Amino acid sequence: LNYASVEKEKTLAMIKPDGVSGNYTTQIKSIILESGFNIVREKMLQLNEETVAHFYAEHSGRSFFPNLMKYMTSGPVYIMVLEKLNAIFDWRNLIGPTDSRKAKVSHQNSIRAICGLDSERNCVHGSDSPQSAAREISFFFGEISGDAGSIHDEL
Ligand code: PPS
Repeated sequence: LNYASVEKEKTLAMIKPDGVSGNYTTQIKSIILESGFNIVREKMLQLNEETVAHFYAEHSGRSFFPNLMKYMTSGPVYIMVLEKLNAIFDWRNLIGPTDSRKAKVSHQNSIRAICGLDSERNCVHGSDSPQSAAREISFFFGEISGDAGSIHDEL
């Protein structure tokens, strides 16, 4: 028996400033729980320029980066660690494509179709690989043990 194959996976989910200010947090958390994820960590945070520069380091050379910086520091975000089997792929699938305009056409039940506007104001973030999930979770929460319970830490 390969125990690794039945191990739950963790991913980082973020409700971006437009999602928080648009009061979508409760609805998004309901969708998360109905979809079988456990929320094992959560906190509200105001990102500053340094945090955004680190978090989105791989996009620092992109033409949209100054807009992304301005947007991501414009108000609080809500960050969660989600856990379930195939959490990384399933959360990306649930949020839909980066461009919310596309989500509204081809992925109408996705979260970005519900609360996003375009490629910038797209309401939510999800880690795109096991490597980025590990990096993003430890960036915001430090190292988390395998069977950690919920810890609520408020802004
Ligand atoms: S890529 O090319 O696949 O690496 O990029 P992509 O996944 O499409 O986008 C990476 C993140 O950058 C954000 N983004 C933008 N922000 C502002 N303006 C524009 N035009 C723009 N295009 C992409 C996008 O929302 C992605 O954020 P995350 O949080 O990773 O989903």
